[in-house]
Amino acid sequence: FKVPEITNEPMRSYAPGSPERKALEQAIAQLEQELPFEVPCIVNGKPVKTGKLAKQPIPSDHAKHLCTYHEADQATVASAIEGALAAKADWESMPWSDRAAIFLKAADLVSGKYRYKLIAATMLGQGKNAWQAEIDAAAELTDFLRFGVKYVEELYSIQPPRNTPGSWNRTEYRALEGFVFAVSPFNFTAIGGNLVGTPALVGNTVVWKPSPAATYSNYIVYKIFEEAGVPPGVIQFIPGPPAEVVAQVIAHPSFAALHFTGSTFVFKKLWKDIATNVDVYKSYPRLVGETGGKNFHLIHQSAELKNAVMQTVRGAFEYQGQKCSALSRVYVASSLWKNGFKDQLLTEVAKLKVGPPQEFTNFIGPVIGKPAFDKITSYITKAKDAGGEVLIGGSADGSKGYFIQPTVILTKDPKSVTMVDEIFGPVLTVYVYEDADFEKIPELVDSTTGYALTGSIFSQDRKALLFATNKLRNAAGNVYYNEKCTGAVVGQQPFGGARASGTNDKAGSMSIFYRFVSARSIKENF
Ligand code: ALA
Repeated sequence: FKVPEITNEPMRSYAPGSPERKALEQAIAQLEQELPFEVPCIVNGKPVKTGKLAKQPIPSDHAKHLCTYHEADQATVASAIEGALAAKADWESMPWSDRAAIFLKAADLVSGKYRYKLIAATMLGQGKNAWQAEIDAAAELTDFLRFGVKYVEELYSIQPPRNTPGSWNRTEYRALEGFVFAVSPFNFTAIGGNLVGTPALVGNTVVWKPSPAATYSNYIVYKIFEEAGVPPGVIQFIPGPPAEVVAQVIAHPSFAALHFTGSTFVFKKLWKDIATNVDVYKSYPRLVGETGGKNFHLIHQSAELKNAVMQTVRGAFEYQGQKCSALSRVYVASSLWKNGFKDQLLTEVAKLKVGPPQEFTNFIGPVIGKPAFDKITSYITKAKDAGGEVLIGGSADGSKGYFIQPTVILTKDPKSVTMVDEIFGPVLTVYVYEDADFEKIPELVDSTTGYALTGSIFSQDRKALLFATNKLRNAAGNVYYNEKCTGAVVGQQPFGGARASGTNDKAGSMSIFYRFVSARSIKENF
């Protein structure tokens, strides 16, 4: 069995009048007509309606909600865990080619039959515009599943290089003993699929708690896995009140791994709680987390102006800055700033239309919810209080949807609050440095925050690129030259950062699969 050749899923343009635009518009109209949906928990392949109802609001029109979902209660969580443990033996012992076939089929369902439904659900429920939803729920999710199969094939083929005469050594990659707990975020539908798909591909069973703000799109992903042939019990879908579900799951003796994407705060809290349970567990749990970021563009005086401006606008404001990889602090050379960067930046930001994502001319949609809206707007106030100058934006209107104007703040203090804290919204802070001080700036970039996720360096001078790259050795897990610091592509730029940004196990690469297997060495004598 050889995995077929894998390539990245081609992105569709959604140009006005194109067939894909029409199909997506239809999918959106259908969802709007049918909502609100009812989403149950799924345990052992069966819907469980606990009657503990919660709502997933539509962030661009928060009086409406996309779905009502049944929160997992204690009994549901307990049976999800027991069911996952019971399903494991068959799933793990299934021939690898069958598991691979199931996930390749799931990828085809994402890329084909369910593409527009998933994109529409991501647009309405998570406030992404069509292109951002296409990158995420169609392309990246498909890529995670297809490349995942390829990576597992590579992993299984890694074998000890030496045998002594009369013996044969081999390594077997067992699934972890117990179950994996996946806790997924609102901001990428694809990440939900990947947090579940990665451990499941190598034979684990997974208890999945999606973000409340992405319940409906994640439910569609669950149903796709089911249709592709994932057997009952292998993935247990348990939306629920985060704290209660999480506490119950991580207290179970068979908890074997956490696959998490979310905030640094929550990941640290989980880590501490898991540590207090360590005597309860059969094995030391694997903790795999992708958390926050405070990502930078370092722009040298030699940078190509137009490109640096456009990449900065996209890096900071695509999906309203709600990506862990989003750009939020810029260090720009004074000569460039004065000779066009500032003017072009403000001109381009002024063009960004804000409004509901289902109107295709809007670039900026709503932020995800009221707590996010309040947090982001309070950071704009804090920046002003700290002497920052709002160059553009700064206003917000949460009356119908949670809309915040794309905001650029100029600061004279490179360690001011919005240069340091993760904001997770459409707020960009700029610090202008004297050209002659370039060599001091990487140290400043490195020491300003505890995060180390992504960063970009803009220069047409290779010496400057290399200088900054070397000085910023530990400041980012993903570095880009002359391109925005978002948009890692599965199979091309393995994604993740260290320090407070995560365990840097690199989503979209082979290395993350190691975290969900427990290798066994077998020596056989002839
Ligand atoms: N992997 C996503 C990006 O690189 C978060 O933007």
